[in-house]
Amino acid sequence: MSQKPTKTIPFIRSSKRREGAVPLVMVTAYDAPSARVASEADVDLILVGDSVAMVVLGYADTLQVTVDDMAHHTAAVARAKPDAIIVGDMPWMSFHVSIEDTVRNAARLVRAGAHCVKLEGGSKRIPVIEAILDAEIPVMGHIGLTPQSSNVMGGFRVQGREVQAALEMIEEARQLEAAGCFALVLEGIPDQLGRQITDTLSIPTIGIGAGGDTDGQVLVYHDIIGLENRFKPKFVRRYGTAFDQQVAAVTAYSQDVRKGEFPGPDESYTTKDELTEALGLYGKQ
Ligand code: KIV
Repeated sequence: MSQKPTKTIPFIRSSKRREGAVPLVMVTAYDAPSARVASEADVDLILVGDSVAMVVLGYADTLQVTVDDMAHHTAAVARAKPDAIIVGDMPWMSFHVSIEDTVRNAARLVRAGAHCVKLEGGSKRIPVIEAILDAEIPVMGHIGLTPQSSNVMGGFRVQGREVQAALEMIEEARQLEAAGCFALVLEGIPDQLGRQITDTLSIPTIGIGAGGDTDGQVLVYHDIIGLENRFKPKFVRRYGTAFDQQVAAVTAYSQDVRKGEFPGPDESYTTKDELTEALGLYGKQ
């Protein structure tokens, strides 16, 4: 059971910038140390995202992670007892087969420590969203560039660039709000569309690559700290150089070992005089 964060789902639900709310901050975290950092940095929400597949586990897409994987990472985040709402991401195939399976899978993430779940998709997901809500589990929606649909979308492409697609997305957003989602992630859409959806809804929007007018922002932890340095999507701003700093630290350690300079007296356990003497005599008798 994770601890109850100071911020609540009703607080998030009511955080609209047009009503004077401060923009919401969400970051991903997949383990206890990053959850501690996120909590210390006073974020509102920690998303245990299925991006763990690509960022941490080395897969080429998010389709490879299972409910077991997501529960494992959610539990690690929850054990850090962060003062933030933990959002468990429902992985591909955890809400596509049957309503019963969906509710059980959502419950597994809650039992692992999530306070709510997020799932990708528009109005065709409403029956499963309603069933999860019926089990008293708050749901965050996610539309736009939904990585679990990357094969259908032909890759990780910005969505809603055409008029018809944009209008359809606004309608999908409306329906997800009406179904009871407490917030909506908007990923990879033009900034004007991000603003229009945000203006249309009474629940907050949390953007990633959706421009500066959404009610909050989310980024992947490893992108923020610069630990992910292979590829920088346009929407990412790096606030650290963690990869370079970590290479420098491990290189310095490695050089010290090779020069015989690590460990030194400060990193060694001292021996009692009688042990020094006994070890000195050992083998000499
Ligand atoms: O898994 C994830 O990190 C996400 C964010 C990109 C919103 O779903």
